[in-house]
Amino acid sequence: MSEVIITPTITASRKLYIESYGCAMNFSDSEIIASIMGEHGFASTNDELDADVIFLNTCAIRDNAEQRIRERLKHLRGNKKHNKELIIGVLGCMAERLKEKLLEEEKLVDVVAGPDSYRDLPKLVAEVDEGGRAINVLLSREETYGDLNPVRLNSNGVTAFVSIMRGCDNMCSFCVVPFTRGRERSRDPESIVREVLDLSNKGYKEITLLGQNVNSYLWFGGGPKKEFKKLTQDEQDSSVDFADLLEMCATAVPQMRIRYSTSHPRDINEKVVYTMAKYKNLCNYIHLPAQSGNSRVLDIMSRNYTREWYMDKIRMIRSIIPDCGISCDIIAGFCSETEEEHQDTLSLIEWAHFEFSYMYIYSERPGTPAAKKLVDDVADDVKSRRLSEIIALQNAKSKQKNESYIGKVVTVLIEGHSKKSTLDWKGRSDQNSVTIFPCEDYKIGDLVNVMVERATTTAMIGKAIGYASLLPEN
Ligand code: SAH
Ligand code: SF4
Ligand code: F3S
Repeated sequence: MSEVIITPTITASRKLYIESYGCAMNFSDSEIIASIMGEHGFASTNDELDADVIFLNTCAIRDNAEQRIRERLKHLRGNKKHNKELIIGVLGCMAERLKEKLLEEEKLVDVVAGPDSYRDLPKLVAEVDEGGRAINVLLSREETYGDLNPVRLNSNGVTAFVSIMRGCDNMCSFCVVPFTRGRERSRDPESIVREVLDLSNKGYKEITLLGQNVNSYLWFGGGPKKEFKKLTQDEQDSSVDFADLLEMCATAVPQMRIRYSTSHPRDINEKVVYTMAKYKNLCNYIHLPAQSGNSRVLDIMSRNYTREWYMDKIRMIRSIIPDCGISCDIIAGFCSETEEEHQDTLSLIEWAHFEFSYMYIYSERPGTPAAKKLVDDVADDVKSRRLSEIIALQNAKSKQKNESYIGKVVTVLIEGHSKKSTLDWKGRSDQNSVTIFPCEDYKIGDLVNVMVERATTTAMIGKAIGYASLLPEN
């Protein structure tokens, strides 16, 4: 692991406000950042006006994600007027993508730090204290922050993220992540289990193991990713793959629910699904982004699978776990996508019965293989229309899926009040579908059986009929 030597120049307690954008990995990173800064005298605050340092942990996945940050930075100009000492940092994927340009373009930014340089943040802030502006956007092949104790921010005290790997080696042609997060590397499984046990001791009830492509998790002693067949015999014998890691976590905390995200259709395998079937506390839910339902489009997206391969993976999952929840990501209007190819995406959604999907218009990202080699030639109005069709169909399917549970019992972990009423609890079923029911005497963190009575596109609504247990019956 790369060593960064930090000389703490700050001892008095200053306040840090972090705002996170983008995917769960970023939210999880913010907890690592809070931990690093906490060790150097920065207490976390939820009030931006009270902060001495504001970090925006940013996303670069689509252009609109970056536009949001620019708007936010304009707003923060006001805070700087009130507090001349205020330090503003842009962290995360947009920082990594734009590097020095961010300091040049956004004059009020003092610190720019990429996802692998967070151990350096106290030093970067100290440089700003001395009158400079500071940047570190070096990517690492080893950094996993595995030894750190994340500070749980904005926590409901029930669910938490645990990062199990960083970076991505896949190079899907549309995607900026391999450029902003660097090469794939897996985190030491012992440190993962330690973190999971710690969360359990602190009363958390559910964890989500995070990585861009969790199915390629492979620990063989650390360092950059290698393929299994390229490991020495000793490394192979002691290696831990994703299914092994799931099993280690499932047995370490049998009373805790465990989820994970994201799976890649090329790499998800029977071993993982059988492991899920074996342990009651491994939730029956897989996020399996297809991106498109057409094999030619998948090919130019460099996803390394076909429509048929994807459908076979769903068949495999449902043959082992018939009621497994599956969700999807879809991109509308990728380069050269024809009307027929778009229809293939719709027919895949029709066939697959996803619980829900995240659906996006293709946004060309500078520097990606698609930006270099393909033409972003689907007109904006066509992209929007295709996205609307995809959303309309998925909404109808989500409603059908939720309705299919009417009269059945689902197991729900209570996460908090429903948005609409403090008289109702909200939680998610094993299959990750939102479920709402009257509070009665149940409390946050309880695992309950809920009889589903009604359903909408976004939720199942019902009544609790008693406590549930994750421990095996008998
Ligand atoms: N690692 C995950 C996804 C990471 S990004 C995976 O491989 O599935 C989350 C989602 O953003 C992707 O699944 C994709 O649907 C979407 N996405 C990524 N790049 C995009 C782009 N350039 N335009 C539109 N959507 C994009
Ligand atoms: Fe991006 Fe593909 Fe990696 Fe997912 S698997 S992060 S879509 S490159
Ligand atoms: Fe965005 Fe970076 Fe995540 S680009 S989606 S925050 S990995």
